[in-house]
Amino acid sequence: MSQQPSQHSVQEEHQQFIQPLGAFTRSHSCGQLTTNNIGAEVNLAGWVQFRRDHGGLIFIDLRDRAGLTQVVFSPEVAPAAHEQAHIIRSEYVLAITGTVRARPEGMANPSMVTGGIEVVVTEWKLLNTSKTTPFVVEDRADPNENLRLEYRYLDLRRPRMTQNLMLRHRVSQSVRRYLDELEFVEVETPFLTKSTPEGARDFLVPSRTNEGEFYALPQSPQLFKQLLMVSGLDRYFQVARCFRDEDLRADRQPEFTQVDIEMSFVNEEAVMSMAEGLMARVFKEVKGLDITTPFPRMPYAEAMGRYGVDKPDTRFDLPLQDVTSIVSGSGFRLFATAKLVKAMRVPGGESLTRKEIDDFTEFVKIYGAQGLAWIKIREDEWQSPIAKFLSEDERAGLTAALGLQVGDIVFFQAGEPDMVNAALGNLRVKLGHHLGLIDENSFNFLWVTRFPLFEYNPEEKRYVACHHPFTSPEVESMDLVRTDPANALARAYDMVLNGSEVGGGSIRNHAGHIQRDMFEALGFTQEEAETQFGFLLNALEFGAPPHGGIAFGLDRLVMLLTNSSSIRDVIAFPKTQKGTCLMTDAPSPVSARQLRELHLKLREEEKK
Ligand code: AMO
Repeated sequence: MSQQPSQHSVQEEHQQFIQPLGAFTRSHSCGQLTTNNIGAEVNLAGWVQFRRDHGGLIFIDLRDRAGLTQVVFSPEVAPAAHEQAHIIRSEYVLAITGTVRARPEGMANPSMVTGGIEVVVTEWKLLNTSKTTPFVVEDRADPNENLRLEYRYLDLRRPRMTQNLMLRHRVSQSVRRYLDELEFVEVETPFLTKSTPEGARDFLVPSRTNEGEFYALPQSPQLFKQLLMVSGLDRYFQVARCFRDEDLRADRQPEFTQVDIEMSFVNEEAVMSMAEGLMARVFKEVKGLDITTPFPRMPYAEAMGRYGVDKPDTRFDLPLQDVTSIVSGSGFRLFATAKLVKAMRVPGGESLTRKEIDDFTEFVKIYGAQGLAWIKIREDEWQSPIAKFLSEDERAGLTAALGLQVGDIVFFQAGEPDMVNAALGNLRVKLGHHLGLIDENSFNFLWVTRFPLFEYNPEEKRYVACHHPFTSPEVESMDLVRTDPANALARAYDMVLNGSEVGGGSIRNHAGHIQRDMFEALGFTQEEAETQFGFLLNALEFGAPPHGGIAFGLDRLVMLLTNSSSIRDVIAFPKTQKGTCLMTDAPSPVSARQLRELHLKLREEEKK
């Protein structure tokens, strides 16, 4: 470094920061140098992770997105550079020139690529200073998530976060290469569009030029990709942003990314094998893992029966069993009167403590359960608050059906089928983690197929599409659309990975009259169907080819590939659970003028 910044005027300092790097132009990244480079003269640039002074030597770890390199300022080698190094603080930005040498005996760190070497500085240049950061920029630090989101640019400097983004990039590049090789065409579809029902609320955008009218941000490009098939594009894909105003969870964001795919002249088999090939390719290129294809398939009815959820985690067993008929005459009123009673036998679970069981009881309440019945199978007794209600016959029936053994605990849930399945199905997953039954390094893919076409929505008092309204009924279910919608099955398929739905798709209705029947079954009048979906119904009258497709949740896939517990850890600038961005402060109020231009007026009570 030529001069000390403290002696500069502000303008001089500015000059120094913006000068070209010149002789300091990088020769290597901070994650690159090894013992093979010993003796080489190199230039590095990066951020100061850490500075420590040691017996006259000053050490810093210099960081860039590729890694860390230990850099040494030595009074013997370069006295001026060493003297000036006292100003260096964490997160300052430096460029250095120096010589690579082996770390002294016993100081090597074999867990790092660069752990065998250090760079002794001959010259250096300060590229920028930094205020003290609100948290230490290190993986080991575990700052509060709100602080991380407020200073997201610093959070993303942390190696784990940088690596998540870099892995995400590799996934999307791998996806693009695979689909390009298979002659898929990448097409962009509008963000300012008309609502497509995917089951969530729309985000609306008021139109300035069309008073009182709104665009909807797309919940998915579903209709556009179908229309591209009508156009003859044949094979489409898009890495598409989707917007859904729904309650957020650990694996949901209001804006998220799909790898969206559509194909013409195909059946389920063609879409599913293309999708399996895509996963095999991504896992090979990104993780070096060989994924076995084809993936197992499980009908929806079996998934719900055995696992209580439509996205079963098949890395461990703990099946649910229907015991309604065994306990239908029980002295325990809850069991005797319930529509459905299910049990889950947990081998070895007898050792669960009262506190653990209480926690599980609280947990199932999230799913609408009132409580959680349980029985511990002991050598001499069935220990349980409900044991006294169970007759000898019921005990024998349960023992035989569940294969009960001493040391087990059995959990029961009784009531409405949806609640019973959700409560026990989710408890099953929680127990799988709690009891260490899951091999965290395994990736279990599964197709769930044969979904119902419709599900009854008690709030709206009508059927809604289980997947979306454009999904074709199974051939045998065609007539049921009109006569018995509850029993119609769909040509839909979900891809499940370790208990997470990573993709979903279907074969679509390419015949206009079937699409019209679907709208009718969903309670649309002809006029309503025309107003909302006239453009689709019209297009289907102009030679629409048979077609189908799938969309993958890219964020969820990357979450699983990086072993992240929150979807926010794989998105550069995510929203909080409340849908806010703590860095930019969105959403935020707008000026009265902006509102006026958009022909909007806030209701009195909402003005603050
Ligand atoms: P679907 O609604 O099943 O299908 O969405 C496809 C995949 O997108 C992911 N996903 C989400 N990821 C993060 N946050 C969210 N809020 C969110 N919602 C969904 C899931 C899901 O499997 N148009 C159809 C696809 C088709 O039929 O081709 C669709 O959008 O991983």
